[in-house]
Amino acid sequence: MNQKTVYFLHDQGEAHSQITEFLKPFYTLIDEDLSFSFEGLKTKELYAQIDMRLETTPFDFLLIQHDRQLELFDSEKRRIRIDFDSDKLNYARKVIAKDPFLRAIGQSRKRVLDVSAGLAIDSVFLSQHGHDVTAVERNPLLFSLLNHAKQTSENLKKRNIEFKFGDSSEFVKSLASKGKFDCIYFDPMFPDKAKSALPKQEMVLFRQLVGNDLDSEAVLETLLKFGSRVVVKRPAYAGPIGFKPTNAFESKLIRFDIYDNGL
Ligand SMILES: C[S@@+](CC[C@H](N)C(=O)[O-])C[C@H]1O[C@@H](n2cnc3c(N)ncnc32)[C@H](O)[C@@H]1O
Repeated sequence: MNQKTVYFLHDQGEAHSQITEFLKPFYTLIDEDLSFSFEGLKTKELYAQIDMRLETTPFDFLLIQHDRQLELFDSEKRRIRIDFDSDKLNYARKVIAKDPFLRAIGQSRKRVLDVSAGLAIDSVFLSQHGHDVTAVERNPLLFSLLNHAKQTSENLKKRNIEFKFGDSSEFVKSLASKGKFDCIYFDPMFPDKAKSALPKQEMVLFRQLVGNDLDSEAVLETLLKFGSRVVVKRPAYAGPIGFKPTNAFESKLIRFDIYDNGL
């Protein structure tokens, strides 16, 4: 399989070498200091910079790091930025009546292992509701965005949430003490037709980045061997993944399948 090319434009700060070292094994990396000031740059001017780079060097993804920001673009200029502090739409969701997510995880404080971190919208929500969260993400670019956003976030300093890089199946197998987590939460990509909470362009880039999680049944099989309570998020119209749940909590669009397996 051809390695994807990532064009990494960065300032002179410390964060860039850490990100470069981390990404090197996974991508063909073109790494360059910013020759322009990002500060105060209007979106149009930023896109002109992207066009200029595209003309000389084609890339699959462009990563721009400046001060407190790390942003990801594809060559069609779709953009993903994770900002736990100012993106209220994604990271300050209100609780709905009888919130099925909170009911599925459980009311009292839990140690939750989120095995599909994604943009960490769900992980942050759980941490806001008093749970301790460890979230695992296997996509290196997405993990870099999460990690950087966590390091620069004021809000997350007050919360018990950490991000780990890797495949969750391997992560759960490697847990020395089996009772480390009260609950495992799994939210694999929904099938294509599902309506997404993300804006359309962001969703296209997100899918390009992580694919369709076609191994979700195999992952769930592993999780069920190691977790005493596993919660799986599904679109309301779709059936459970592979195995019959013990219970479920549902809202209009989403269902949380619960596997209590008495381990
Ligand atoms: C639908 S998204 C999760 C969205 C997330 N719940 C949120 O609130 O932003 C699925 C994510 O899980 C990741 N993923 C799926 N299976 C995984 C696995 N076995 N190990 C680690 N990450 C996984 C994918 O790379 C993708 O980023």
